[in-house]
Amino acid sequence: MNKPQPFLTITWRDNAVVMIDQRRLPHEEQYNVYTDVAGVAGAIRDMVIRGAPAIGVAAAYGVALAAHAASDGLSQMIDRVQAACDLLATTRPTAVNLFWAIERMSKTLKKAQQATPDQLRLALLEEARAIHDEDLALCHRIGEHGATLVPDTATVLTHCNAGALATAGHGTALGVIRSAVSAGKNVRVLADETRPFLQGARLTAWELARDGIDVTVIPDVAAPLLLSRKEVTLVVVGTDRVAANGDVANKIGTYGVALAAHANRIPFYVAAPWSTIDLDTKDGAAIPIENRPDEEVTHVFGKRIVPNAVPVLNPAFDVTPAALVTALITDRGIVRPPFGPGLAALA
Ligand code: MRU
Repeated sequence: MNKPQPFLTITWRDNAVVMIDQRRLPHEEQYNVYTDVAGVAGAIRDMVIRGAPAIGVAAAYGVALAAHAASDGLSQMIDRVQAACDLLATTRPTAVNLFWAIERMSKTLKKAQQATPDQLRLALLEEARAIHDEDLALCHRIGEHGATLVPDTATVLTHCNAGALATAGHGTALGVIRSAVSAGKNVRVLADETRPFLQGARLTAWELARDGIDVTVIPDVAAPLLLSRKEVTLVVVGTDRVAANGDVANKIGTYGVALAAHANRIPFYVAAPWSTIDLDTKDGAAIPIENRPDEEVTHVFGKRIVPNAVPVLNPAFDVTPAALVTALITDRGIVRPPFGPGLAALA
């Protein structure tokens, strides 16, 4: 079978930001082109691009775009770039990578206050490219560390999509799986479908199947049964934010998987680049949880499935207490409990 063309989650091309439209996968590979920061902010909010590290990269390019789109003098350009940072910070609250990337771009802006407009444009684009390139390298390091935790033959359960589509490439949780497969291990993946946005069924299944990795989609509600039957060797998921005490925010449903893994003594690993570790947030209770639009719950592919006028709740993330996490797999190494001192030592 011919290998499919590699895809790019996000790239900068001809003074524009290009993203694969993740809402259309797996059926359509459509690339959207954004030429202004409002477009990038909308793409993050509407989930054209999603996944914590990928959101950070998109925000960085969005800031660079604000400088490129501005043809006025330095002080107006600085104002536009500042406004771009403010706008992007309103898009999604949970993924700390968004705020981390905006902070890096703001620092670059401050450093370049005496520059010419062209120098400022270039400095911002170079910083965005650095954030992008670094993320890819960090994912490979996460993969190398994480692969050491995967036995030679393993069934790995994952939730949501923490893959190439959620990062600059390779992925965090899926990076661990990819690196284990590259090391010659025999890995079968169980992908939770991940209601309501179906990142597992649509995105994880798409990118792993494309790479020829053995993947089976399961309904979210089947995970506890399979864990209790010991049909899973280990769980590995990504995260949007890790608090200083090791509490982990990730896609809604992760907490339930962690509880079932703990009850059945199955290792539960969380993979993340250092940009997802938030030592300024004390614990999970302080992590802001995004509420997404009702339509994601009330409708399936445009068809209403909930009776009219019945309210729904749609929290997009949950918090898994540190006590349920076997280890954090970071680019700086594997951290085991107690996470507070472990994370502080690597900071
Ligand atoms: O709402 P999403 O699709 O942005 O949520 C994504 C997740 O929950 C991922 O697991 C997380 O961002 C880690 S991505 C490497």
